[in-house]
Amino acid sequence: MKQNAHWYLSSIGAKLVMATTGVLLFGFVLSHLTGNLLMFAGPDAMNAYAHWLQEKGMLLWAARAGLLVIFTVHIGSAIRVHRQNRAARPDSYAVSSYLATTYAARTILVSGLVVLAFVIYHLLHFTLGVTNPEYLLMLDPQGRRDVYGMVVTGFENRAVALSYVVAMLLLSSHLSHGLTSLFQTFGLHGPRFKLLADKVGPAVAIVIFIGFASIPLAVLSGRLN
Ligand code: HEM
Repeated sequence: MKQNAHWYLSSIGAKLVMATTGVLLFGFVLSHLTGNLLMFAGPDAMNAYAHWLQEKGMLLWAARAGLLVIFTVHIGSAIRVHRQNRAARPDSYAVSSYLATTYAARTILVSGLVVLAFVIYHLLHFTLGVTNPEYLLMLDPQGRRDVYGMVVTGFENRAVALSYVVAMLLLSSHLSHGLTSLFQTFGLHGPRFKLLADKVGPAVAIVIFIGFASIPLAVLSGRLN
């Protein structure tokens, strides 16, 4: 009994930590998307925004460190929830419900792993200058880092642009499933919340996908150059 209570608490605990860090990461994704959409306002607006961020110095580093901690805790609790779900699943589950639960769990796990791989590649690509060190040397006429030029040059490579679009599809799927199960984790049950949960996740995912994917697609189609 004591052991059961312990399992229940730690399982709920891990889910709550995963959901809370997920909400914080979602906040970052939304603010990153808002900043990135400045690409459509032109090089000056985009580079001024990037310059304003760079000027934050220690504050920016603190935000980066916080983001890294949140990201790591999110992945850690996801692994814990996944393990607990597997250990708790009785062998006598009906085949159909077994398939249904594993399908949802597998989708969010696989899309999460792809998002993780994408973020690692993305940092090597645009932030750390590992894949293309020349990007970090690009300056605009005002002597600021030419982030606009870097993004356009990056997406002129068709394979890179298309891999970003595919990654954004999986990010959207991850957010859709994550947001829908968030309602359950926070105990928001009932028909009213179910309707909301079923609609909010996919609607947000579509907005996020269109927002991010529009940038590589605009470069590929020559709309941004
Ligand atoms: C088309 C989609 C995207 C574009 C064009 C884009 C663009 C950029 C650029 C230009 C930077 C570097 C900014 C700078 O050095 O000043 C950056 C950094 C970053 N991006 Fe993205 N991004 C995209 C999608 C995403 C997504 C979906 C995520 C997360 C799931 C993400 C996470 C990050 C992170 C964590 C950083 C590092 C922030 C920092 O250290 O300051 N990006 N992105």
